[in-house]
Order: sequence, then structure tokens, then C-alpha cells
Amino acid sequence: MDKELREKLISAAWQAREQAYVPYSGFAVGAAALGGDGRIYSGCNIENASYGLTNCAERTAVFNMVSQGCQHLTAIAVCGGDGKPVCFPCGACRQVIAEFAMSKEIPVLICGADGSWLEMTADELLPHSFELAGE
Ligand code: THU
Repeated sequence: MDKELREKLISAAWQAREQAYVPYSGFAVGAAALGGDGRIYSGCNIENASYGLTNCAERTAVFNMVSQGCQHLTAIAVCGGDGKPVCFPCGACRQVIAEFAMSKEIPVLICGADGSWLEMTADELLPHSFELAGE
């Protein structure tokens, strides 16, 4: 991914984070998914008084992409966590990323509040992701 596109994706993730609904944790996260169609689909975390219903930013972004007709994820950026250097995607989000990733090697950009970022592949984040037998 070229520098310009990477910066665009990271900036979309930070922008999405501004919409985070986090009255319970106060931990705002934003994500931006790059679709195979070249469009950027963003999302934030959305919490609920029934805590387990919370939706993470990465899943909101990927579900936004899919619900708008694109099922191919080519990259995703995630940003959040004021106190930590970077915010790694949780296990559930890693599995959702694996489901729609165009290949196991797509970049996942994990961004810190200090402007730092780390690039890993979807497979590095979740090797041996769950797949239905025979798929
Ligand atoms: N969260 C995300 O949005 N993405 C992750 O990958 C991990 C956690 C959110 C869920 C919850 O709203 C807050 O961070 C604290 O767990």
C-alpha cells in the first residue's frame, strides 16, 4: 500500500473514532476498511447498557462495507486507546477480518495515539482462523 493511501486510511479511522459511543468504558476506537472496490468504509465502537452487545470499531467498519455491497477487504486501519501505544484488534474482530480478507496477507494497520503505527498481516494476527470444514 502506498504512503498516501495508508495515510488516508489511518486518517479515516481517526475520524470514525470521533463517533464512538463509549459511555461505559470511555475507550474510543475507530476503524477504516478499504474495500476491493477502492472505497473506504469506516466504523467506531458502539457500546450498550447490556455490555455484551457492544460492537467493536473493526466489526462496525467491516459490517458497514459488507452492508454496502462490498465483500472484499483489502486493508484495515484501527486506532484508539489514549493511554496505550497501539490498540490491537480483539480476537472476535480478527476472525471477522479473516472472513472478508481478500487474502491472508492483507495489511492491518494498528495505530497509536502518538502517531505511531504497526503493520501486520491478517494471518499474523490470527493464524489458523476458523474455517468450516470443506470450505
Ligand atoms: N474495542 C474495539 O472497538 N475494538 C477492539 O478490537 C477491542 C475493543 C472496544 C470495545 C469496547 O467498547 C471498548 O473497546 C473497551 O473494550
